[in-house]
Amino acid sequence: MRTKLAAGNWKMNGLKASLSELEGMAEAAKGVSEVLICPPATLVAAAADAASGDIAIGGQDCHASESGAHTGDVSAGMLKDAGASYVILGHSERRTDHDEHNEHVRAKCKAAWEAGLTVVLCVGESLAEREASNTLDIIGGQLATSVPDGATGHNLVVAYEPIWAIGTGKVPTTDQIGEVHDFMRARLEKRFGAGVGRSVRLLYGGSVKGSNAEEIFAVSNVDGALVGGASLKAADFVPIIEALNAAAG
Ligand code: 13P
Repeated sequence: MRTKLAAGNWKMNGLKASLSELEGMAEAAKGVSEVLICPPATLVAAAADAASGDIAIGGQDCHASESGAHTGDVSAGMLKDAGASYVILGHSERRTDHDEHNEHVRAKCKAAWEAGLTVVLCVGESLAEREASNTLDIIGGQLATSVPDGATGHNLVVAYEPIWAIGTGKVPTTDQIGEVHDFMRARLEKRFGAGVGRSVRLLYGGSVKGSNAEEIFAVSNVDGALVGGASLKAADFVPIIEALNAAAG
């Protein structure tokens, strides 16, 4: 059985005062689903203190090296030391803003695993790629090249985030989500074996809200969500956590 995961990506949002939102999420986080918040790096340590166990905390990126002359970067070990247990890698905003390619993501993934972090690896196609019917090729390529050997159900979560659905209010149909999630499950089973392939959790991300969560969580091989805007406030995120708890039965 895969434990459902409601993950929030705060992106470049949040000051110390924002951590009071975690209190508002704490009660819902005691349910059957796991709840994860990935605040900006400046808040990881304080968030880990404030979350007091019910909510897991993660980073939004890490460097591929353990330490060294990389001004402005944060290593996986630093995130772990600050209280993180997860790190998001390969988000499309990192791929675009920082020119991160699958090979970079793969190196970061290895570093995260060495530090003992669980990776939430993001994949997703652009609108042009979907319109050219290249979605599955793109996702297959990203999975093959971004994920190093050695994945397990504990160290890897994959998030399918179509770029055109992020922050736009546009959501793929449930058939489109199901097609990609079934494809990702099959690819993971083929490469890592059925046991591991079936144990990796697959999240959907892109304009998830309380109003569409139930429908998305009913799709096959959707084990939760990676939520941006609607994870910033407890009032928006709690209904998503509750919908996931309900889907877990
Ligand atoms: P939104 O939920 O704001 O569309 O963002 C999704 C996302 O990019 C999460 O990583």
